[in-house]
Amino acid sequence: MQDGNVRTSFASKKSLLEVRNISQRYQTGSGELGPAVLDDVSLDLKEDEIVGLLGRSGCGKSSLLRIVSGLIFPSGGVVSYLGQKVAGPVDGVAMVFQSFALFPWLTVLANVELGLRAKQIARDEARRRALKAIDLIGLDGFESAFPKELSGGMRQRVGFARALVVHPNILLMDEPFSALDVLTAETLRTDLLDLWVEGRMPIKSILMVTHNIEEAVLMCDRIVVLSSNPGRIAAEIQVRLQHPRDRLDPEFRQLVDKIYALMTKRPEPVAPGREGAFPGLGFGMALPRVSTNTLAGMIEEIAAEPYLGRADLPALADSLQMEVDELFPVSETLQLLRFAEIEEGDIKLTPAGHRFAEADVDVRKKLFGDHLLTYLPLAARIKLVLDERPTHTARAVRFLEELEDYMSEDYADRTLKSVVNWGRYGELFAYDETSETFSLENPQ
Ligand SMILES: Nc1ncnc2c1ncn2[C@@H]1O[C@H](COP(=O)(O)OP(=O)(O)O)[C@@H](O)[C@H]1O
Ligand SMILES: [Mg+2]
Repeated sequence: MQDGNVRTSFASKKSLLEVRNISQRYQTGSGELGPAVLDDVSLDLKEDEIVGLLGRSGCGKSSLLRIVSGLIFPSGGVVSYLGQKVAGPVDGVAMVFQSFALFPWLTVLANVELGLRAKQIARDEARRRALKAIDLIGLDGFESAFPKELSGGMRQRVGFARALVVHPNILLMDEPFSALDVLTAETLRTDLLDLWVEGRMPIKSILMVTHNIEEAVLMCDRIVVLSSNPGRIAAEIQVRLQHPRDRLDPEFRQLVDKIYALMTKRPEPVAPGREGAFPGLGFGMALPRVSTNTLAGMIEEIAAEPYLGRADLPALADSLQMEVDELFPVSETLQLLRFAEIEEGDIKLTPAGHRFAEADVDVRKKLFGDHLLTYLPLAARIKLVLDERPTHTARAVRFLEELEDYMSEDYADRTLKSVVNWGRYGELFAYDETSETFSLENPQ
C-alpha cells in the first residue's frame, strides 16, 4: 500500500476483480427456479478506485456482493480475482456488512482479532495488527469494551476494523452506513473517505453497495447503476469531483439529478419474454407499498407553490422532509399510473395529475380507479375476474400464486396489498381481510 502517498486519479490502473456475465436465480418455495435476480452483469474493479453499486432495494445488490466475495455461487457467469476464478471465500477480499455481525461475548479487540483467526498468523503479530486497525478506525481506548457498550457507529467501526485487519486488497461493503442514524453515518463516511484519500488503509480498492444516490456520489469514483427485476447494469457513471466533495456543489447536485432520472425511468415489466402471458404489459411487476394518502399528498405538493406542477426531486424531498431515495416508491407509482413523469431529474405532473390535484374526493377516486384499470394490468385482471364470475368474488390466493411465478413470496404479498389499497380507494373492488377475498364494490 502506498503509505503516506496521496491518491491520484491518474494512477496506472490494474484490474483486481473481473465479474463476467453473472446471472442469479434462487429456488422458490416450491423448489423451482425463481425469476432472474441478476442478469448478465459484468464489471471490473481496478486498483485505486471506489466503485459503487447503486440500485433500489431488492434489485440484487447484496446477491452480487455475496457472489463476488465467494460466499455464494452464481447460477451463471464467472468472477475472477487477480486472474483466478473465485470458487469460495478469497484471501484478499474482506466484507463489511450492514448489520454489524459482532460477537456480543467478545471484546472489541477479540472481535477484531477474530478476522485473523483463520489465518496462520502468530499471536503477537495478530495483536499488533488488530491494535493498529482499531487505532486507525478511531476506536482507540475501546479495545476492552463489549459490543453492547458501544453505539451503532462505534460497532460499525469494529466491523470495519475486522475487515481491515486482514489487509485485504479489496474491501466489499454492503450498505455499511444504512443502519446508522444520519449524523453518525455521515461522520463514518467522512472518516473512511479521509483514510482512503490519504492512502492510510491497507486496501487497494473498494466495491460498495448502496441504495442512496447521494452516498454514491459522495464516495465513489465510478457508479454502476443496477436496474431492478432483473438486476442488470443500466448505466455506469464516472464521478470526477475532487475529495472532499461538497453536497451543495452544483456539479454534485447535477450528478444526483442525472442518476435520479436514470433510476426513475418507467419500470419495465418483470420476466422479459413472459409479457405476453397476460393481456396488457407488466402483470408481473412488483409494486411498492405506497398509501393513496401519500400519493395524493405528493401530487398536491407538486401542484402547489412553489413548484406549480414541476419539482426538482431533491428539493421536493427536502420540503417533504424525506430522503431523496424515500421518494422512489412514490414517484415510481405516480409515473406508473401516469399522474406524473420524470424529466431531467424533475418530477412533472401530467394533465391527469393536474386534474387530480384540482378535483374533489369523488372525482379523484374515479380518476384514480380509471388509471388503475388502464395502466395497472393486475388491477384490470382482478376486476375482470370479478366481473366475469357469477359470484363476483375471488380469493386473494388466486392472484398471489400467479404473482409468485414472477417474484418472491414477499414481493407478491406486498404487490397484492398495494393493489388492494389502491383498488379500494379507486372503488374498483372491495376486499375482506378476514376471508382474504375480493368482491365487486357495486355488483350489477
Ligand atoms: N437466499 C435467497 N433465496 C431466495 N431469494 C433470495 C435470496 N436472497 C435474495 N433473494 C431475492 O433476490 C432478490 C434480490 O435480493 P438482494 O440481493 O438482497 O437485493 P438488494 O441487496 O439489492 O436489496 C430479492 O427479490 C430477494 O427476495
Ligand atoms: Mg441488500
